[in-house]
Amino acid sequence: MARQLKNIAPHGGQLINRLASEAQKEVFYSKADHLPCVQLTERSLSDLELIAIGGFSPLTGFLGKADYESVVLNMRLANGLPWSIPITLPVTSELADSLNIGSLVRLNDPQGIFIGVLELSEKYKYDKLKEALHVYRTNEDRHPGVKVVYGQGEVYLGGDVWLLERRPHPLFPTYQIDPVDSRELFIQKGWRTVVGFQTRNPIHRAHEYIQKCALEIVDGLFLHPLVGATKSDDVPADVRMRCYEIMLEHYFPLDRVTLAINPAAMRYAGPREAIFHALIRKNYGCTHFIVGRDHAGVGDYYGTYDAQHIFYEFEDGELGIIPLMFEHAFYCKRTQGMATTKTSASLPEERVHLSGTKVREMLRRGECPPPEFSRPEVAAELAKTMHKMAIEEAATGFEI
Ligand code: ADX
Repeated sequence: MARQLKNIAPHGGQLINRLASEAQKEVFYSKADHLPCVQLTERSLSDLELIAIGGFSPLTGFLGKADYESVVLNMRLANGLPWSIPITLPVTSELADSLNIGSLVRLNDPQGIFIGVLELSEKYKYDKLKEALHVYRTNEDRHPGVKVVYGQGEVYLGGDVWLLERRPHPLFPTYQIDPVDSRELFIQKGWRTVVGFQTRNPIHRAHEYIQKCALEIVDGLFLHPLVGATKSDDVPADVRMRCYEIMLEHYFPLDRVTLAINPAAMRYAGPREAIFHALIRKNYGCTHFIVGRDHAGVGDYYGTYDAQHIFYEFEDGELGIIPLMFEHAFYCKRTQGMATTKTSASLPEERVHLSGTKVREMLRRGECPPPEFSRPEVAAELAKTMHKMAIEEAATGFEI
C-alpha cells in the first residue's frame, strides 16, 4: 500500500503560530494606550508577519544576542540549527533606553496602526561592520542591504512577538497563502514533492525554463514571488504579479502550479539569502528549492554560483530541503530552445543573453524584448507599464 501523504517537517520540527488568540488580544488592546511603542519599518513589519505565520519557524520573535551572534558568525542559531540571516529589530539608543526588559512593547506598522506586541527580553548593541562583512560579504554602503544596516538604530531589541490580526494583503488577497494553508493545499493536490521558486523580477524565459526543468522531476511548482520591500529600481510587485498571471494563463498546466506571495523583504545578501529563502520555502511545505545564477545577488558583489556553493557548507540533510541548482540559462539559436552550457553545444554568439539593465532600458522606451528573452504577452504588458512609469517619472521629476 502507498504511504500516506504528509508534508515535509517545518524547520526545527514545529510550525510556529504567533497570531494572538482572542483572549490575548483583549489583554493587549486594554493595555495598548499605556505601552511604550516602536514604529516598524516595512522590513520589520514583513519580519513580524513571517514570524507570526510560521514562515520563519522556528523563530518566535526577534533574535536575542546569543542567537544573533551565532547567526552572523556561524550561520546557525545558538542551538546549532542552520539560520543564515539575522532577524532583528533595530531602534535608536534613546528609544532603547526608555524601554524596560520584561515589559510589553507595542508595535505599530509604518502607518502608525497598532499591529503587534513584543515581549521585550533583551536589548543589545551590535557591530554594524561585522554584520555587513559576514552577512553581505562587503562593507560598501552602496550595497542596498548594507545601506539598511548602516542607516538603522544602534540597538537591537530581542524577544517573542505576537501579531494581532492576519490582515489580507491589500493588493493580492487571493494569493496570500500562509504556510499552514500551503501545506494543506499540497496534501489536497496529492503532491509528495514540491519545488519552491523565489523571484523579485518579472518572469522571463530563463525563469520559465528552470521552473519547468524542475517540475519535470517533482509533483508541483510553488511560484513564490517576493512582494515585501525591494530596492526602488526593481519592478513593482503588482506588475510582476500580472506577468505571472499572464504566464499561468498561457504557458503552464494549472494543476501543477500554485502562485502565492512571499511577504518577505529583500536583503540582496546573495549566498546567505539563498539559504534563508530555501528555509522559508521549507516552512511553506516545499521539499525542493531552485537556486539559479547569482540568486538574490545585486551588482557584482557575488560570484555567479556563490549562492549554490554555500549549500555545501552544510551537512547532507541538515537544511532539510533539497536545492535544485541551475546554470545560467539562455536561448540557444542552434537548437532553437532554452539551454545552459551543460546542454548546449552553441558558440557564445549563438546565445541570446540580455542584461537586466538593458531590458529595463528597452521597456522604459516602450520596446518589447525579443521572444527569445520574454514571452510576447509578458513583454507587451511590461513594456506598456514600464513606459507609462517612465513618462510619469519624467513629468514629476521623481524616480518611481
Ligand atoms: S532573485 O533575487 O529573486 O534571485 P530573480 O528573480 O532574477 O532574482 O531570480 C529568481 C531565480 O531565478 C533565482 O534562483 C535566480 O538564480 C534564477 N535565475 C534568474 N535568471 C536566471 C538565468 N538566466 N539562468 C539561470 N537562473 C536564473
